[in-house]
Amino acid sequence: MPREGQMTQPTTTPEGLLSRRVLLAAAATLGLSACAGEPISPGQTTPSGSAAPSPADTQPAETSTPSAETPAETDTPSPTPTRASDPSWDADSRYVLVNKRNPLEPANYEPDDLRVLDLRGVYETPQMMRAEAAEACEDLFAAAAAEGLALAVSTAYRGFEHQRSLYETRYAERGQQATDESTARPGYSEHQTGLAVDLASIENPECQLGQCFGETPEGMWVAEHAHEFGFIIRYPDGAEAQEITGYFYEPWHLRYLGVETATEVVQAGVTLEEYWEQPPAPDYEHDYATDPHLHS
Ligand code: DAL
Ligand code: ZN
Repeated sequence: MPREGQMTQPTTTPEGLLSRRVLLAAAATLGLSACAGEPISPGQTTPSGSAAPSPADTQPAETSTPSAETPAETDTPSPTPTRASDPSWDADSRYVLVNKRNPLEPANYEPDDLRVLDLRGVYETPQMMRAEAAEACEDLFAAAAAEGLALAVSTAYRGFEHQRSLYETRYAERGQQATDESTARPGYSEHQTGLAVDLASIENPECQLGQCFGETPEGMWVAEHAHEFGFIIRYPDGAEAQEITGYFYEPWHLRYLGVETATEVVQAGVTLEEYWEQPPAPDYEHDYATDPHLHS
């Protein structure tokens, strides 16, 4: 059974990450927020059920244009910088936010456009992603290969039962607290969205699902280029990031968001929660045994 794990203690926060966070927070305070988001499929809603914004990740961000009757520069408001996407709570959306405080709804959600990745895998079991993310992942592998770097897929899509098996095996070995630091509960994993993939370096198998993946040539290339293909490293290094995402540094875990959003997240140097101005999700609200989302 493929297992995600072998995490070690995180290293220090990269230089400048905090300052970029502070800048982003300041930008948010100044009203640099929300525009539209592009779901992979329509029907995106917020938790309150209101309609979601229309697609935009591949389109230029909307800016305000001064009208001809607005002559004085001092009277013209500066164009409002916009964000390429907002979070969604629709499991089918490319922008679905999944973390310890935002489980998938329904908990046993299954994407309907999964396809097998045409990529080298660590395991014999074929690995799948949603169609758009699969294509982006194949493009990323091709670009890495063109630079002489050999990546492999560890696991990509994991259904509810697969994630449950991973979680419960580890829970039995290590208990809830240690398990929750590295492995998502079923219904709470990005792998269940079909938008996440764990990568490995063929030349450095000892770093599979280990933080040293980030120091391999493949891991360093991924950190520098993943956003060009629409992916981010979802669980960044550093204690501060861990307090927000709820997980140790996982340089191998990529989350697909589309090029524009991924690029903005990387340029801001923040976690996805911060980019979308969402609360930190350091822990679960309930113990696993009594989680109403899983055992109702
Ligand atoms: N390791 C990540 C958090 C997962 O299990 O989804
Ligand atoms: Zn992962």
